[in-house]
Order: sequence, then structure tokens, then C-alpha cells
Amino acid sequence: MTNFIECIAPSNIALVKYWGKKDIQIPQNPSLSFTLSESVTRTKVLFEKGKGNTEFLFEGKHAPNFETKISTFRTLWENKYPSLKNYDLKIESQNSFPHSAGIASSASSMASLSLCFSELLKNEGILDLDKNSFLENASSFARLGSGSACRSLYGGVVTWGQWREGTSDEYATEIPELSKKWSSWGDAILLVSSKEKPVSSRQGHALMMDHPYAESRFSNARNRLTELYKVMLEEDLLKFCEIVETEALELHGLMMNSNPSFILMKPESLAIIEKVRAFRIETKIPACFTLDAGPNIHLLYPLEKKAEIKDFVNNELSPLLEEGKWIDDKVGMGPEVFGAK
Ligand code: PMV
Repeated sequence: MTNFIECIAPSNIALVKYWGKKDIQIPQNPSLSFTLSESVTRTKVLFEKGKGNTEFLFEGKHAPNFETKISTFRTLWENKYPSLKNYDLKIESQNSFPHSAGIASSASSMASLSLCFSELLKNEGILDLDKNSFLENASSFARLGSGSACRSLYGGVVTWGQWREGTSDEYATEIPELSKKWSSWGDAILLVSSKEKPVSSRQGHALMMDHPYAESRFSNARNRLTELYKVMLEEDLLKFCEIVETEALELHGLMMNSNPSFILMKPESLAIIEKVRAFRIETKIPACFTLDAGPNIHLLYPLEKKAEIKDFVNNELSPLLEEGKWIDDKVGMGPEVFGAK
């Protein structure tokens, strides 16, 4: 196969979390995230006219688990663009971060795949959309692959879920006025455990269906998002830290209150949380933590304080990390298409 499309898409970290869904990956509440820069998936799709075969290689090897997911994803595209059935595809994907690092890779992988499919269809004359609609379309397909992936189609500060004009439950949009102000923030991803989670995000979302606090959670998240938006616009950094941390703990509180209950934090996660709070009080540096559905901690901070944060991580947090590992990430510009033939 000589024709190919190659793209990279970053992971993202939610500040207001998507937790609970309805219908086809429609979020129960709007979310808001930072797109990352270093934690990315690179995907290359080689294609030629053929019988509709799909071959998938993850980091150079066949991965049957992923293959099923990719075929289902392809079928979704074919339902809307039947001409895609006339192509054989060889898809090669790799992450910039170790697969076993416990970093969610579904957002970056589904976003990069969705972007590659969109580019392929555009290049073959099957898809003809203006720039905005093109990204919205790619974002809504990414959403079907993995909810939070829809936010990875954009850089900076991104929102998904209907809450103000121009936002949608079906695709994400950038919040340009916030991206401008928050592009110089770092995210030190502190790796507490790389073990597979006992409860997947999919199961976690499902447990929100009959959750005793479901309704208050969905309205809290909505209110918190509007509050966070205002605070970010005003650049009230300490208030920002408070809101982001409350939200992360609420997510984990929901897990603890689910039926069955589950806990994804580890003792080290809690120890780090306490140290981050003490560090903020002591140094007055507006650094705060958030967590995804897992034990790892994302330490968010203004990049101008990077030297202090590095010292803090290496001297105080490192013993709490798995093999002392952390990923030096920051807010990024969004996906890139960097090869097409
Ligand atoms: O996109 P999913 O189904 O893996 O769910 C993501 C859930 C959280 O990471 C906890 C929150 C979010 O909005 O990213």
C-alpha cells in the first residue's frame, strides 16, 4: 500500500469530568479539559482500493483486543460513508507514553484514528466539509469510540456537552478565550500505579445510572463548569485550584458511593494530594491536583513555576511514585496531520 495518512492526537485531562452517559455516548453533564502536548498517539492509515479488509498493529504487533474495537469503529464510519467499504486499511498506532503507564490512551487513540479516517475520506473526495464542520464531524465520531476522545480534536481548553451557544452533546469545541489565557500551564503526570484498573470507565459510567447521587452530581457538574469558566476567565488561580480539586474528589467520591462501591485511589494518591495542598499553602504557588478514573495524579501548575515544581516532585513526591516515574506534560495545541500521500 503506498497511500497513507498519518496523524497524531494528544490525550486530555478533564477539569470538570464526564461521568455518566445516556443514549449513544451522550454525556449527562458538560465537561471541560486541557488538551495535553506530550502524551499522544500517532496513527498511520495505509489504504488502497480493495475488499474492505482491516489490519491493525499496535506498537508493531497485532492486538486482537484492539482489533475488534477498531472494526466496530470502522463500521460506524461505513454506515455514514458506505464508500469506505471499498478500501483495505492497514492501521498502525503507537503511543508516546508506555502502554502500561496507567495513562488513559483511549482518548488520544480514538481521536487520532478519527482524524485519519476524516482525512482519508477528504483526500478521496468522499467528505467535503468546511474546517469547523470537518472537526465537529471527526470529534463526534471520536466520541462514539470513547467519550472523552472527542475533546482531543482541539487544542488548549476544550468543552464537550451543551451549556452555552456553540456547544454540543455530540462533539467538543475549543473555548478560545480560555485557551489564550491558559496555554502556559504544565501537567506533571505522577504515575502511582500502572496496574490495570479493577473497574473500567465503561463500568463506572454505567454505575451512574442508578447512583443515589446521580441527579445532584449532574447539576453540580453543570454549575461547577459555569463557575470554573468564570474563574478561568478572571484568572483567579487559587479559586481555580479549589474548584479543580473539589471536582476530582467528587468524581472519586461517586465511585466510593456506587453500588457496588469501588476505590481507584491508592494510599500514595492520597499522600500526594495532601502534599500538594501543603505545598500550595507553604509556597503560595497555585498548583493543584486532579485525577482521572485511576490512581495517578495530574499536578497542574503555571509553567513559570516549573523549576519549583520539578524540585517538589523529585524531592518530595518521587518516593510515592512507581519507580519514581512521572511525565512532564503541558497544555498543547491539539492534533496534527503530518503526512499524507
Ligand atoms: O471517555 P471515557 O469513557 O474513558 O471516560 C472518561 C472519564 C474521565 O476520564 C474520568 C473523565 C473525563 O471527562 O475525561
